[in-house]
Amino acid sequence: MTQIDIEKHEKEITEKGWTAFRGVYSAELIAKACEELDEIRPTYDEIHKEQGVYEETKNAYHHTVVLSPAQLEMINPNPLHGFLENYFGGRYILNTMGTSYVLPQTGIYTQRIHRDIRSFSGKERLTVNTLIMLDDCTEENGATWMLEGSQYQDDKPDEDFFYKNSVRATGKAGDILVFDSNIWHAAGTNNSDKVRRIITPFFSKPLMKQSLDYPRAFGYDFANRIPDELKQILGYNALTPVTLSEFYKPREKRFYKADQG
Ligand SMILES: [Fe+2]
Repeated sequence: MTQIDIEKHEKEITEKGWTAFRGVYSAELIAKACEELDEIRPTYDEIHKEQGVYEETKNAYHHTVVLSPAQLEMINPNPLHGFLENYFGGRYILNTMGTSYVLPQTGIYTQRIHRDIRSFSGKERLTVNTLIMLDDCTEENGATWMLEGSQYQDDKPDEDFFYKNSVRATGKAGDILVFDSNIWHAAGTNNSDKVRRIITPFFSKPLMKQSLDYPRAFGYDFANRIPDELKQILGYNALTPVTLSEFYKPREKRFYKADQG
């Protein structure tokens, strides 16, 4: 991808509530991510069944970044880094990064009109959603409906109004959509005969608790083997100490670093 135009994307997300970055990932990296998903899905099915949540979670694979090197590669370096630092006005971390399979003709909870944050945060930027397309997203296979401008509205729009006034966020495999977590949106129905796969990284200010504790999931020693930018993104600079000795560290060794907001 060529240099990103931060100003243009910032203007779009502020006004419309979403913006798209086109042609970010190569076909090779997308193919590698898809292959890895085929390998790791049985592990998820097993865990879902073991925990008794198979019916409600099937086709949703949370935190796949932990098991998929290709997904980690997608944020190392993060092509959206400059945009996100500008968006949050400082540091940010990865809150969650999982994968969804939207199968043909199936009803899923994301097809209801919803927003991805329970508490409406208005103009306060605490989180942002991104969506990496592993397959082309078309009107036929269920590209997301977005009600532009609704990111500033707390109340849920009624269904008629929503579908009359929303746009479809279509795109190609390798594109990334970025949207305000407050925007009202709905996944479309997949009327094709093939699965539509998406990875959904969700970034936040470092003060928000991660949905999975990535530093512990990857292990503290992992931080010594990765670039500073990835270390920041995975949350190694925004840790919670558990002992007083961990809490009372000199500034440069603090678990929660001073620049994390
Ligand atoms: Fe959503």
